[in-house]
Amino acid sequence: MVIEELENILLEVTKKLGYDTDSMRVILSNRPDLCDYQCDAVFKLAKTLHKNPIEIGEELVNEVNALPNFQEYFEKVEFVKPGFINMTLSSNFINKNLIEMNDDAHFHLKKPEKIETIVLDYGGPNVAKPLHVGHMRTAIVGESIKRILNFAGHKTIADVHLGDYGLQIGQVIYGVQKENIAISDITIQDLDRIYPAMSALCKENEEVKEECAEITKKLQDGDLTYHDMWKKICEVSSEDILGIYKYLDVSFDLWLGESDAYPYIPKVEKMLKEKKLLQSSEGAMIVDVSKETDKKEVPPLVFQKSNGAYLYATTDLATIVNRMEDYNPDRILYVTDSRQSLHFEQVFRASDLAGIAPYSIFEHLGYGTVNGNDGKPYKTRSGDSPKLQYLFDQAKEILISKKDGNSEMSEEDIDKIVNAILKFADLQNNRERDYIFDIAKFSEVVGKTGPYILYTYLRIAKIIQNVDIDNHKLSNNIYNNYDRDLRLKLLEFPLAFKNALEYRMPSYIADYVYDICVLTNAFYQNNHVSGLEDMDKKKDWVYLLTLTNKMIKEMLSLLVIKIPTVM
Ligand code: ARG
Repeated sequence: MVIEELENILLEVTKKLGYDTDSMRVILSNRPDLCDYQCDAVFKLAKTLHKNPIEIGEELVNEVNALPNFQEYFEKVEFVKPGFINMTLSSNFINKNLIEMNDDAHFHLKKPEKIETIVLDYGGPNVAKPLHVGHMRTAIVGESIKRILNFAGHKTIADVHLGDYGLQIGQVIYGVQKENIAISDITIQDLDRIYPAMSALCKENEEVKEECAEITKKLQDGDLTYHDMWKKICEVSSEDILGIYKYLDVSFDLWLGESDAYPYIPKVEKMLKEKKLLQSSEGAMIVDVSKETDKKEVPPLVFQKSNGAYLYATTDLATIVNRMEDYNPDRILYVTDSRQSLHFEQVFRASDLAGIAPYSIFEHLGYGTVNGNDGKPYKTRSGDSPKLQYLFDQAKEILISKKDGNSEMSEEDIDKIVNAILKFADLQNNRERDYIFDIAKFSEVVGKTGPYILYTYLRIAKIIQNVDIDNHKLSNNIYNNYDRDLRLKLLEFPLAFKNALEYRMPSYIADYVYDICVLTNAFYQNNHVSGLEDMDKKKDWVYLLTLTNKMIKEMLSLLVIKIPTVM
């Protein structure tokens, strides 16, 4: 990795001068007009040594310039007052690194010091309820984070954690019974109709609401008829959900749900009791998870309601027991709406207190809301919370209208582009922030959009398709600034990737692939590769563009985006 090599050179020199420091951090240049990389550790060094930064900086830079292999790395290294070391890389060094990246499926990324086993909990759809736009966020963000972790070399276990045991089940069973539908006849159309009707009815009719809660409770206690109905409802609903995930290219290793956690509840209870953590409060059983240092109140976790029913937090604790037993993971990550952060804080603390798993292994990766132009949660034209199919259809409609009906695109290509539109729009945002769902903007081929990235890729694929560069070794040349800028950007890959990995933010990958595409467009608009007669130069450039496209493709795959054949 370029930065590390540069850091090592500076470190060697610092040591040679007799200064002991490991604060030799190199960063990307803040002034690309002046240099490629820079180091501002001189200030810190001067401070610990009680010396003048100018003196130390100049001494260091002179020493670097005197290195026998200076030219292998640098074109220029300068000290700039008051305390910066500015470095301009040699073409040699740039090209050597590009070759190493090209020869490695992981673009010369370093393996992690420790390979971790990471359980990822995302998706979280609720059986028998339609998926909404929030469920698209968790699916896409979670899948992308999983791919980033895998690319880094970690081992992931993705669990969909279905909401399959909640109150909606009682409501749907109530509705099915009322309509006299035989268990084996239940269809997805029935669920689509019954759930909203029952949910509305429960809001206005207290008796029905109680009955539905009673059914849910009986189901959880093992009632056999309800169990059979529930199983069928889960099957029908899962099939529908799987269809949506297939469309989104999102997949899971485990198709488990809240119901699978029930057998582990007695263990949780035992552990809580052993540590004397369970208290009764107004008939309910609770766990005090507050800390003296809390600035905001963290209310107790409710383990069991007064009617004996278990809650969302209970099944989450039980699920942790299950995961620890089966996988003993180093980490457990949850991708949900940010508004669930208090819930997870309570669960993580209770897990830690009970000795189920330490607080430090958990991460709640929250995401913001998808809003309409009015800044309020996104609604359909008729004012409902949109089903996912509605979003897919909208993107498709715009895409097809742009083609004026004279498109040669296959259904498969259309679906890939629809996916790119929605996913790039979503993942380019810092996941914690809300964003405005503006499908027209997301579908543009210019700007920071999925179609722009796809377009760039396909354009390059065309340029390089018929040039044979088998065994061509990249020369030491760089031909102009468009060329140099692109090469330098490709070398930044480990930095962008490291940020995405560390912060669990796919947006760093989206930003990076967009930057590559901007520079690639500038490159080919100013450098006409196809007509070139100088074959050495042509092969160098095709080599560069081949690597560029390989990287764009990999970045898109990390963003769960596939490339169509045409667009
Ligand atoms: N079903 C939940 C919802 O729709 C999300 C589940 C998230 N995962 C978890 N382990 N709590 O909000």
